[in-house]
Amino acid sequence: MRTLVVGNWKMNETATQAARLAREIVDVLSMPPYRAKRSVDVVLAPPFTSLAPVRDAIAEHDVALGAQNVYWADSGAFTGEISPPMLLDLGVRYVIVGHSERRRYFGETDEDVRKKTQAALAHGLRPIVAVGETGDERDSGKTDERVTVQTRAALEGVTRERLSEIVIAYEPVWAIGTGRNCDPTEAARVIDVIRASVAGLDDVPVLYGGSVSPANFAQYMAMPRCCGGLVGGASLDAQSFALLVRIAGEARP
Ligand code: 13P
Repeated sequence: MRTLVVGNWKMNETATQAARLAREIVDVLSMPPYRAKRSVDVVLAPPFTSLAPVRDAIAEHDVALGAQNVYWADSGAFTGEISPPMLLDLGVRYVIVGHSERRRYFGETDEDVRKKTQAALAHGLRPIVAVGETGDERDSGKTDERVTVQTRAALEGVTRERLSEIVIAYEPVWAIGTGRNCDPTEAARVIDVIRASVAGLDDVPVLYGGSVSPANFAQYMAMPRCCGGLVGGASLDAQSFALLVRIAGEARP
């Protein structure tokens, strides 16, 4: 199973700032001891407006481009949306779907996430499907049910062969941007619940996301079933992000 470190920049950085940050990241990653042994796939997911400049900044480097969202139609009267062919044409290889911020602030449903996942797969984009429970759901003992429902809904109708293109991220909503990261043993337990929710997920990388930092990431990478991180805040600093890549590479040489 591959190990991934994905930087989700969310709605941060202008195109000019993003190009600078991407250059800083590849510069740090090119230096020993950061030069990542390529057991780790590194993905940068800037806002749509920064995809082209980030692509240019990471060209020649072993870093992949990701998007934070996608619409399921190829083209048409869908003002403000971005299609899979548009992303592919910009060199995008991964796309985050079902992030909790999309579900919460933009009303994305499990059904939307399923359509986006299928559209991404149909075009050869690798979906990074985000699932996770809210604080209330955890407090009322609904964590396992919630991640199972979300995972099954997102992957419904995906063939066994296509599953190998999928990446899943377990992101407990209460841990995102709060500094309250999920206990790594508990994250590993939920990752197992996610893997058990759909047949054929044994070899699918499942990442952890939610207040990942250089101070706690090694504890997640010590869990054999955790395949890396989906990182928000700590991905906006070149040194911290490079450190996360290094930690992942050291844990999975
Ligand atoms: P933070 O790392 O800032 O908690 O964000 C996690 C996240 O939502 C990544 O998609």
